[in-house]
Amino acid sequence: MSNVVILGTQWGDEGKGKIIDLLTEYASTVVRFQGGNNAGHTLVVGGEKFILHLIPSGILHPGKKCLIGNGVVVDPAVLISEIKRLRARGVKVTPKNLALSERAHLIMPYHNALDLAREARKGKKKIGTTGRGIGPCYEDKAARVGLRVVDLLNRKHFLANLRTNLEEKNFILEKFYKAEPLNRAKITRDSAKWTRFLAPFVANITERIDQTVRKNENILFEGAQGTHLDLDHGTYPFVTSSNPVAGSVSAGAGLGPKRIDSVVGLVKAYTTRVGDGPFPTELMDKIGKHLRDHGQEYGSTTGRPRRCGWLDTVVLRESARLNSLDMVALTKLDILTGLDKIKICVAYKLDGKKIKYIPADLNAFERCEPVYETLPGWTEDISGAKKMSGLPRAVQKYIHRLTDLIEVPVGIVSVGADREQTIMLKNPFKTSRKR
Ligand code: IMP
Repeated sequence: MSNVVILGTQWGDEGKGKIIDLLTEYASTVVRFQGGNNAGHTLVVGGEKFILHLIPSGILHPGKKCLIGNGVVVDPAVLISEIKRLRARGVKVTPKNLALSERAHLIMPYHNALDLAREARKGKKKIGTTGRGIGPCYEDKAARVGLRVVDLLNRKHFLANLRTNLEEKNFILEKFYKAEPLNRAKITRDSAKWTRFLAPFVANITERIDQTVRKNENILFEGAQGTHLDLDHGTYPFVTSSNPVAGSVSAGAGLGPKRIDSVVGLVKAYTTRVGDGPFPTELMDKIGKHLRDHGQEYGSTTGRPRRCGWLDTVVLRESARLNSLDMVALTKLDILTGLDKIKICVAYKLDGKKIKYIPADLNAFERCEPVYETLPGWTEDISGAKKMSGLPRAVQKYIHRLTDLIEVPVGIVSVGADREQTIMLKNPFKTSRKR
């Protein structure tokens, strides 16, 4: 039995969907433990493209159980429409293969309204959020005024809290942000529909996880966003409001830390960022355009063009440490094909001094200039490679240099969007630590 965590090591969008889909084959259960529908995991299954925002990717595999943990923030309307859309495409979604934590917090319409109003007011200083109400929902959770999934099952309690919350939120929306207030009657009506639809899916997720562990079955924990969007460890305030690091599995799904067997860090062969915030290796030239065009770097949640740049191993080393990575899954390597030379950032120069860490002071981080190592590029098509030895020498060199710099072995290499376009050197479910 193994419990494997898969998470992003950069600023999200590392190509998690494909790798999670690939590894789901070895697990009985797939669990989301943080974030919400700010995520967008793209999967191509049987030639069909699916984008999932809330439901774990395992849903596309018959017989797999998908759990949404307490650490996730759930927009009930989005979850219902995601279930309906999957069903319309022939995917079976029932309480047998999908369960929702009774302790997860609900993203309410006022959270979306506040997210958008706040970003609009910030103007140029905006965070560049996905506008999905993520921050305001986690704020209410921390302030202990949030509504939880379990509250949907207690109408009286739900409506009383809705009234109190809405009074305050509408006051802020109207008086401070000069935005439209929300209509309580509409939310009340909608919430009755949410309850009817979602009640059968509500469950005690930590107990389900415990039962799965006791049955010696494998569990895959599906991270969303990326390590440098982490509320505590990322480039604050240009971060999300949850903890995408591995330790979050324990808090957000209720699995004790000693039960995590393996942590796989997703590394895209270059770097992207969507939203604002410092990005030392960003490329505003034709190479940046090459990466965006070839890598189809447009947000799967918001459609925004992603900012693109060279691989940054300062960022990756920090991720290796914060997550105690056991292995790396290197994705989108084929996108680098055709580039003359390939650069890897190995350090920063800050006010004339070479440093190998990310300064906590964002102003200092903004002044950091990347120190690059240059490697030869390649022109050969690598999208059909099945083994490491089948890759051109320049590609192998790139992978070896990455391994040396971050001191984590590369276990999986993805050379195209299809499942088959993967070189699996190590299967985390077969190489996990023995307890
Ligand atoms: P929020 O999570 O919507 O509050 O957005 C905060 C920051 O995280 C913004 O820069 C978003 O673009 C970024 N972000 C949130 N979710 C994702 C994701 O799944 N991939 C990449 N960036 C994300």
